[in-house]
Order: sequence, then C-alpha cells, then structure tokens
Amino acid sequence: MAAPGAVLGLMLSVILWADGSAGIGFRFASYIDNYMVLQKEPAGAVIWGFGIPGATVTVTLCQGQQAIMKKVTSVKAHTNTWMVVLDPMKPGGPYEVMAQQSLWSRNFTVQVHDVLFGDVWLCSGQSNMQMTVLQIFNAVRELSDTAAYQSVRLLSVSLTEAEEELQDLNAVDLQWSKPTKENLGNGDFTYMSAVCWLFGRYLYDTLQYPIGLISSCWGGTPIEAWSSERSLKACGVPTKGSLLSDSVSGPSQNSILWNAMIHPLQNMTLKGVLWYQGESNVNYNKDLYNCTFPALIEDWRQTFHSGSQGQTERVFPFGFVQLSSYLSTADDPPVGVPQIRWHQTADLGFVPNRRMPNTFMAVALDLCDRTSPFGSIHPRDKQTVAYRLHLGARAVAYGEKNLTFQGPLPEKIELLSTDGLLNLTYHQSIQVLRQDLQIFEISCCSDRQCKWLPAPMNTFTSQTLTLSIRSCRGTVAAVRYAWTPWPCEYKQCPLYHPSSALPAPPFLAFITDQASRH
Ligand SMILES: *[C@@H]1O[C@H](CO)[C@@H](O)[C@H](O)[C@H]1NC(C)=O
Ligand SMILES: *[C@@H]1O[C@H](CO)[C@@H](O)[C@H](O)[C@H]1NC(C)=O
Ligand SMILES: *[C@@H]1O[C@H](CO)[C@@H](O)[C@H](O)[C@H]1NC(C)=O
Ligand SMILES: *[C@@H]1O[C@H](CO)[C@@H](O)[C@H](O)[C@H]1NC(C)=O
Ligand SMILES: *[C@@H]1O[C@H](CO)[C@@H](O)[C@H](O)[C@H]1NC(C)=O
Repeated sequence: MAAPGAVLGLMLSVILWADGSAGIGFRFASYIDNYMVLQKEPAGAVIWGFGIPGATVTVTLCQGQQAIMKKVTSVKAHTNTWMVVLDPMKPGGPYEVMAQQSLWSRNFTVQVHDVLFGDVWLCSGQSNMQMTVLQIFNAVRELSDTAAYQSVRLLSVSLTEAEEELQDLNAVDLQWSKPTKENLGNGDFTYMSAVCWLFGRYLYDTLQYPIGLISSCWGGTPIEAWSSERSLKACGVPTKGSLLSDSVSGPSQNSILWNAMIHPLQNMTLKGVLWYQGESNVNYNKDLYNCTFPALIEDWRQTFHSGSQGQTERVFPFGFVQLSSYLSTADDPPVGVPQIRWHQTADLGFVPNRRMPNTFMAVALDLCDRTSPFGSIHPRDKQTVAYRLHLGARAVAYGEKNLTFQGPLPEKIELLSTDGLLNLTYHQSIQVLRQDLQIFEISCCSDRQCKWLPAPMNTFTSQTLTLSIRSCRGTVAAVRYAWTPWPCEYKQCPLYHPSSALPAPPFLAFITDQASRH
C-alpha cells in the first residue's frame, strides 16, 4: 500500500506546485527554527530537512546581508530528506540560515533568523527533569532572572509515543525560544525543565557563550521506554515489560519514547546529554539497571555520532543525577533506591569509570524535601542539583583542571580487628558534619550467615575515619554508607568535602583481605 500513496504524494506536490506553491514539502526539520543554538566548533552543525526527491538544496549561512558559507546537496529519493554539515563555527551570532530548493528552474526558500553557535545539551529523564522553574524553591526570583541569559535558548519536545523510530519529531511544546518568565514557568511538569535551565545558566556564567537546551522528558517513565531495542536486547530485558509497579505512571512500553522523543534528534550535532531518571525503576527491572543505564548511554552515543555524520563526539559527555531521597508510601515502598543509586554508577560508586567513560554525576541524596507540594519524590532544591551537575560538566566535559566535582570516597579500607575498628582513608579531605551511629553499616558474618549491623562513626582526621565494629562477633565482609532511601535530612549528611560542600556518595565495599578469614 505504500507505493500508491507515495505516487499520489508526488502527483499532489506537482499539481500544487504548478499552482505556485513551489515549496510544497520543502522545510527544515521540526526543531530547526528561529532562535536556535547550533553546535559550535570543533564540530560542524548539521542542518537538514525535507524536500522533493532530486531537487538541489543550497544552504546559506548569512551574517547580516552577507553570505558567509554555502553548502549544496540534493534531496534523497526514498526518505525525501536532505542534509548538510556546516563548517565548524566559533561561538556567537546572530546568523540567518537559508535553505533553497531548486527544481526545474524553480526556487523555493525557507529561512530562520537569530541563530547562535554555542554548546547544545539535551536533557532527558522523568519527572524530576520535567519539573519546571515554577515548581522549585525561590521560583519567583528564578523566573525573573532571565535578562542576562538571552543567549541561553530553550526547546521543549512534546510528550509523544511511537511504535517505530521516527525520523522527525511529531511536535514540540516550546519551539526554540529566548528564556522568559512565561516559557520557564508555563505550568507544573510542562516546559521548561528547571534542572536543564539552571544547568545552562551556570554553564553560561562560566563559558560566556551561547548554550542551547533541549528538554525531552516524561514523568513516571522507566529507562526501558527511553532505550532502543538494541540496547534492551544487550541487557536481556524482556520484550514485553514485566508486571509494572506503581512507580511507573507514564508510558512504559519498551522503546516507545526513544522512538518518538529521542531518535528524531539523532541528526543534530550535540555537545552532551543530561539525564535525571531512575525513580520508576526502583521496583521495575531494578537489578538490570546496572546494564540498561550504561547500555543506554553507549547506544545514544553511537546513534548521535552516526546520525550527525560523526560531528557529535563518539563518546560525548553524559551527566546524570543520582537519585535523591523520598519517603515510602505503603503501595510503593522505595526499597530499591539505594540499589538504583549504585547501579547508576555501574556498581562502582563513582563516575567516570571504565564502564561509563566521560560521564559525570550530581549526588543528590542529601537534598530531600519532606514537605514538597509535589510529593517528597520531587524535591524542590533543583539549584543545588544543577550546580553539582555543572561542576561535573566543567571538569569532565570542559576539562577544567583541579576542580572538585565529586564528594569523598574511601580509597583504602583497613580492618583493625584487634581494636574493633575499621579505618577508612578517603581520597580527599573530609568534613564531618555530624557523628552518625547508623549511616555506616558492616556486613557481619558467622556460620555462613551475614547480616548488616550499624558501625558507629568513631574518630576522624582530615582524611580518615574510623568506625566501631565491636558489635560484630564474626567476620566483617563488607561496609556500606548511606544505604537507605533517606539517609539524612536536608544538607545534613555526615560527610562532605570541605570547600566544595559536595556530599560523600553512597558506597558499598567488600573487605577481602583479612587475617581472620584464614
Ligand atoms: C534559482 O536559484 C539559483 C541559484 O540560487 C539562481 O541561479 C536562479 O536564477 C534562480 N532561479 C529563479 C527562477 O529564480
Ligand atoms: C547488576 O546487579 C545485579 C544485582 O546486584 C547483579 O546480580 C548483576 O551481576 C549486576 N550486573 C552487572 C552487569 O553488573
Ligand atoms: C539521520 O541519521 C541517520 C543515521 O545515520 C540516517 O539514516 C538518516 O538518513 C539521517 N537523516 C538525514 C536527514 O540525513
Ligand atoms: C592543581 O593542583 C595541584 C595540587 O594542588 C597543583 O600542584 C597544580 O599546579 C594545579 N594545577 C593547575 C593546572 O592548577
Ligand atoms: C588509619 O589510617 C590512617 C592512614 O593510613 C592512619 O594515619 C591512622 O593512624 C589509622 N588509624 C588507626 C586507628 O590505625
């Protein structure tokens, strides 16, 4: 049935064209529009669109009245698409991008204006990414703080689903725009993502050149919905989802949002991706998350790299937010929260690591919000989340040296059995905000049975901490930190890095080398 339809389509376009509409079917991709930010050097930005097969397309970049670059291509048969890669451009603007279709000596032109070159970041995930500036702390002040950020531009993808991978977006909620109070605070969980916006603002403060932010997220969605069939297969995820938990309230079908909301962006040149998701997986394919998340990252990287003709870096920077804290409800106890936090790091506790190269993470377990009107699962302090994320971006994506972007983790763990102590040496200085009797736990084993017991914090120096393990009569097999859904009150976890105020991430370490074993 496809062939007659296609023929009809072509006839229709010729007829209308004779009628003077030379541009029928000729357009940019849905997300190429006025006010957009295109990826700056060293990459080349991709411009693409649709047209009449066989037509020649000339893309011209203009500054004022002056054409400064021209690229010529033709519309491919089958897909009716055309694409050019611009030469790498320094950050700045504004420019106009013109595309002209020429066929049978007739021309048709489309153009977009006020286009900037800078860094383009794609923000995805579930409701904590979708939360708007209207919903966060100090909303009024944050909403009015846009005047200085007119070179930070926003695009918000509509919430749509598709059974097959789409070539272009079905719709956008907010076409490329300058930031205003209205489009940052349109409503609850509508455009624009607060984390994405605040990240862009912090980044702009540092970089002082244009930043493009694309929000493509949907509340209550599991990672499987955002993953391609390929990456799910690589992790052995069942094709049809298993029994869903209450934490999944958005679309959950495998690949359904990947198809509609991510895949269509693949031909765009990007700097990197931000991700805030995982709540919907605490009770759903939880123990696959240490595979599905690294696999999603790898698959998105591969897709965007080839989709942009190699312009988006193959291992582009990928930042994410480690789950914050929320209170249990009887129906949906967030028992899997510590596991998802751990799996978000591919079970290593820190990033980047060998399984997740060129990634960065904002630890958020101390940013709980008991009285959030949107439920404690939606903490309102998104400023700190975005601030921590932007530190990671500066260090990992922009190569800033000597910038602390991660809180302290132990690099040496020594069992001082005779003293009943476990000695942790951290990789950086620690600030002990308070002594906690419960937040460290040891796995205590005897007769092949192990159980977790609290290991109270004992003495500490600027980089070491001792835990009391006297309560264990057997062998200490492992130690873990902050392994609960809600480990501390707001910004009151026991351990931070002193000058950056970054919290110690949760960790789990096995203790292998101990005399008592032999
Ligand atoms: C169409 O565009 C081409 C190249 O820009 C130009 O040479 C030609 O004169 C145009 N034709 C018409 C009919 O305007
Ligand atoms: C993921 O975590 C589960 C549960 O802890 C474990 O059984 C599995 O081996 C891990 N898989 C990977 C790929 O690390
Ligand atoms: C986008 O990228 C994909 C994968 O490389 C390619 O098949 C498709 O043709 C590209 N789209 C355009 C408009 O060139
Ligand atoms: C980074 O810090 C180290 C130790 O404090 C110092 O020796 C080094 O010069 C610093 N490097 C840069 C690039 O600032
Ligand atoms: C713990 O380790 C640190 C560093 O190795 C050391 O200075 C300290 O004395 C140790 N503490 C105990 C109680 O052994």
